[in-house]
Amino acid sequence: MTPVPLNKPLMLPCGAMLPNRIAKAAMSEHLGSSKQSPTRDLARLYERWSAGGAGLLITGNVMIDPAHLEAVRNVAVKPDSNIDRFREWAVAGTNHGNHLWMQLNHPGRQTPRHINTSPGAPSTVEPVNLLRRAKAFGQPHAMDEAEIGEVIQSFARAAAFAKTAGFTGVQVHGAHGYLVSQFLSPLTNLRSDRWGGSLEHRARFARAVLAEIRKAVGDDFPIGIKLNSADFQRGGFTEEESMRVLGMLQEDGIDLVEISGGSYESRVMLDKVDNTREAFFLDYAKKARAEVDIPMMVTGGFRARSIMCDALADGSLDVVGMARPFTNNPSVAQDLIDGRTERAEDPPAIPGLGRLGGMSEAMMSVAQMRLLAKGKSPTLLLGRASAVFAALVEETASLFKPKRP
Ligand SMILES: Cc1cc2nc3c(=O)[nH]c(=O)nc-3n(C[C@H](O)[C@H](O)[C@H](O)COP(=O)(O)O)c2cc1C
Repeated sequence: MTPVPLNKPLMLPCGAMLPNRIAKAAMSEHLGSSKQSPTRDLARLYERWSAGGAGLLITGNVMIDPAHLEAVRNVAVKPDSNIDRFREWAVAGTNHGNHLWMQLNHPGRQTPRHINTSPGAPSTVEPVNLLRRAKAFGQPHAMDEAEIGEVIQSFARAAAFAKTAGFTGVQVHGAHGYLVSQFLSPLTNLRSDRWGGSLEHRARFARAVLAEIRKAVGDDFPIGIKLNSADFQRGGFTEEESMRVLGMLQEDGIDLVEISGGSYESRVMLDKVDNTREAFFLDYAKKARAEVDIPMMVTGGFRARSIMCDALADGSLDVVGMARPFTNNPSVAQDLIDGRTERAEDPPAIPGLGRLGGMSEAMMSVAQMRLLAKGKSPTLLLGRASAVFAALVEETASLFKPKRP
C-alpha cells in the first residue's frame, strides 16, 4: 500500500481544497444563547479547534427552524438572526486556514416535547426509547406538501446565510434519525405520496434539499451530507438502500458524504471504542467504494493512527472523521499528523453513570467542550466534575421551561 499522509490535501468536486484528511465531525455544543444565537464561548471553542490542525471542522447541528430544535442551547438560523454573531464564529473557526462547514439540521420527530408538542415529520410515528417513556417527545404530525416545501426552502436559506456569514461549506444532517433520515427510513416514513414508499420516493426529500442548497450557494461552494450506513433496526433503512442512495448522490453531484449510522433508538454511532471495536463503519466504506466514486468521509470509532493511515492508503475513504477525541485534546489532529500520538483518546465516562447507551460519554464530551470554550484545560479533574454538573443542571432545567419560539 502506498502511504497517504494524513496531511495530504484533498480537492473536492466543487474546486475547494481541504488542507488535510482529518475532520472534526459535528458535535452539538449546547453553547448557543437562550435566543439560539452563537456566543463568544462558541467562537472561543472553534478558535481552539482551528489551531488544532484539522483540515475540516464541522459545526454541531445548527437548526434551520427555531420551532424544531434538538436542544434549547442549539444555534438556529432565524429570520431575525444577527449575522455578526455568526461572522465572529466563522472568523474564529477558520483562523488557521482550515475549512469550517455549518451542519444544517431539522430534528423532525426527535424534537423534545418542551420545544414542540407536535413536531413536523414524514409520518406520525413517535420515537420509541427510554425517553419516550419519560414523554420526552411530542406526537409528530405528518407534514403536508406546503410544509415540506417550506422546510426545503429553509435549508436553502440557512445555507445561503452560512455562506454570507463566512462559513466555507455546509453539511446537511441526513443521519441519526433526524428529519432527512426519517424520510429515508421505511420505519418512520409511512407516506404513500411522492415523498414515501419506494426508495426513490423516500430519497426525494434529501435530494430536493441538496438541489435547492446548490441553487442558493452556487457551484463552487462545498455541500456535504451525513448519511447513515444503516438504521441498525429491524425493518429500517438498510446498508443496501444506503448504497443505492450513494449512487443517487453521485448522479446529482455532492462534494463530500460522511458515513455514520444509527438514531436515538439505536445509538450505534456513540458506541464505546475499545480493543475489540474500532472504526465502526469501515467495512461499509470498503463496500461502498466498489460501488460509487464520490469523496467519502467516515466517522465513528477511529482512534489508532495506523488504522486511519491504512484506510486512506487502501482507498477505503478520503477523510477520517472523529468527534469525541477532539473534546479531550483540541490538537488531536495535529498530534496525529505529526506522529506525536499513535492513538486518539476519548474523554472518560462519567463515574457511576455507566454507559447509558453512549449518553455518559456524550455528556462528558459536552462538559469538555464547555471547558474548552472557557479557555480551560479539558483534563482538569475538578473542572471536569463541575462542567458535567453544570451541563446536567442546564439540560434538566430546560426540560421544565416551556419554550415557544
Ligand atoms: C456530544 C456529542 C454531540 C453530537 N452531536 C452531533 C451533531 O450535532 N451532529 C452529528 O451529525 N453528529 C453528532 N454527534 C455524533 C458525532 O458526529 C460522531 O458521529 C460520533 O460521536 C462518532 O464519532 P467518534 O467515535 O469519533 O466520537 C455527536 C456526538 C457527541 C459525542
